[in-house]
Amino acid sequence: MSPNPPAAVIVLAAGEGTRMKSAALPKVLHTLCGRSLVGHAVAAAQELTPEHLVVVVGHMRDKVAAHLAETDPSVRAVVQQEQLGTGHAVRVALEALAADGVVLDGTVVVSYGDVPLLTAATLRQLTAAHLADGNAVTVLTAEVPDPAGYGRILRAADGAVQAIVEHKDASDAERAIAEINSGVYAFDGKLLAEGLGEVRTDNSQGEEYLTDVLGILRESGHRVGALVADDFRDILGINDRVQLAETRRIMNDRLLDAAMRAGVTVVDPATTWLDVQVTFERDAVVLPNTQLQGSTSLGEGSEVGPNCTLKDTRVGAGAHVSNATADRAVVGAGAEVGPYAYLRPGTVLGERSKAGTYVEMKNAVVGAGSKVPHLSYVGDATIGEGTNIGAASVFVNYDGVNKHHTTIGSHCRTGSDNMFVAPVTVGDGVYTAAGSVIYKDVPAGALGVTRPQQRNVEGWVERKRPGTAAAAAAAAARAGQTSTEDPEATEAAPGA
Ligand code: UD1
Ligand code: CA
Repeated sequence: MSPNPPAAVIVLAAGEGTRMKSAALPKVLHTLCGRSLVGHAVAAAQELTPEHLVVVVGHMRDKVAAHLAETDPSVRAVVQQEQLGTGHAVRVALEALAADGVVLDGTVVVSYGDVPLLTAATLRQLTAAHLADGNAVTVLTAEVPDPAGYGRILRAADGAVQAIVEHKDASDAERAIAEINSGVYAFDGKLLAEGLGEVRTDNSQGEEYLTDVLGILRESGHRVGALVADDFRDILGINDRVQLAETRRIMNDRLLDAAMRAGVTVVDPATTWLDVQVTFERDAVVLPNTQLQGSTSLGEGSEVGPNCTLKDTRVGAGAHVSNATADRAVVGAGAEVGPYAYLRPGTVLGERSKAGTYVEMKNAVVGAGSKVPHLSYVGDATIGEGTNIGAASVFVNYDGVNKHHTTIGSHCRTGSDNMFVAPVTVGDGVYTAAGSVIYKDVPAGALGVTRPQQRNVEGWVERKRPGTAAAAAAAAARAGQTSTEDPEATEAAPGA
């Protein structure tokens, strides 16, 4: 459990986000580094181990609530029917908790669903400062290069926070203030409810401003404090897709920094993209133009890239993956993948095995040391240990209606251009001939052959394709053959 866990964290996420210009997605469901915007807010909040975690939803509430239920069922989604201001949103959340009989005794943290760079560490710093100073409310602030649009922090001559004035309601002198309100606060829960009861709507937007609670509490004699964020970028909110991309870059850089400091080599940070849940062991190497997504993990000394996209894929120690796409695959220690391989869900490559060039696999378990080196499709299959699958083989798993399984034993040598028509079983130590269509089981140690006889029609090209380059080459080859068979020429050879 986190020190000083708050009674509740309330994440505001009801706003429309018009500047995202999205028909399909509410703003807080746009993603960066493998998580939605609201998912980042929830993840940071969860690290504080609050008793209650509430997300206030409004715009496209069904989508947001469904997403929350799927990603974190412990989150309580509370509907704000109409977006009547940040103060109103918090009031709706408190009323929903009260209706459930929850008495908030302790700190209530308020944050936003569109501030993904805000870390749990900063939230912890905020609650710690709030409790240490005995404040009724502590606001997280920052000095920003361009404060336009934000609420400004008004301080007295002695530095004490007096109030927050919204940009739209501010005088020119107030607009010159660079210290802004992040919109993130730690409140005393009881005083928050009291203060919200006194908030009015006589402002330029006709809204219930949460910011007004600060002035209200201070005027009734309570302590109001502020914590200035170390890095103003932590509190940047996302309003459009340009800011979404900028923020993704910052978050990606943070993830890369952490990985490199933990002993991972990243050859080109500019073209390497990580999701928040990706993990590494030491001496993993990531080559350029590589995206590691979801819960992907790279084992010790493994090398991934260039040009790889791995999602929810486990790469074992010392494995090499080049120019490959993988989704929910497992690559064993020392295995080789690519260049140009596609590992689909359910692929499990054993130790030192290989899925080589232009190889696609799906739902395939490949034993230790087995190799599928070239130009093949392996679907719905089990391959034993130490087996080699010839080039250009296809595991024919689909009859047009159902999928079927192929089992290949250990230490087999299957020929090139084989079709394994599933369901079919090939025993241990089997050889198969090139070009075979294996549609019947092959017992251990047998040679499987299904090959029509070859027939050569002599002289066909010169008769049927006269005047072509092929015919001329055939004629020249025949002439050459005759001359080497010339007994005089043989006699003329030195030493003969
Ligand atoms: C708010 C603050 C401002 C601060 C800024 C930081 C107020 C009155 N102003 O301004 O001081 O500098 O955030 O970004 O609080 N929301 C709801 N329901 C509502 C209204 C808003 O859930 O009825 C949510 C929005 O989805 C958003 C957040 O609250 O996540 C902030 O709302 P927004 O309208 O962007 O507030 P600002 O005017 O930017
Ligand atoms: Ca905003």
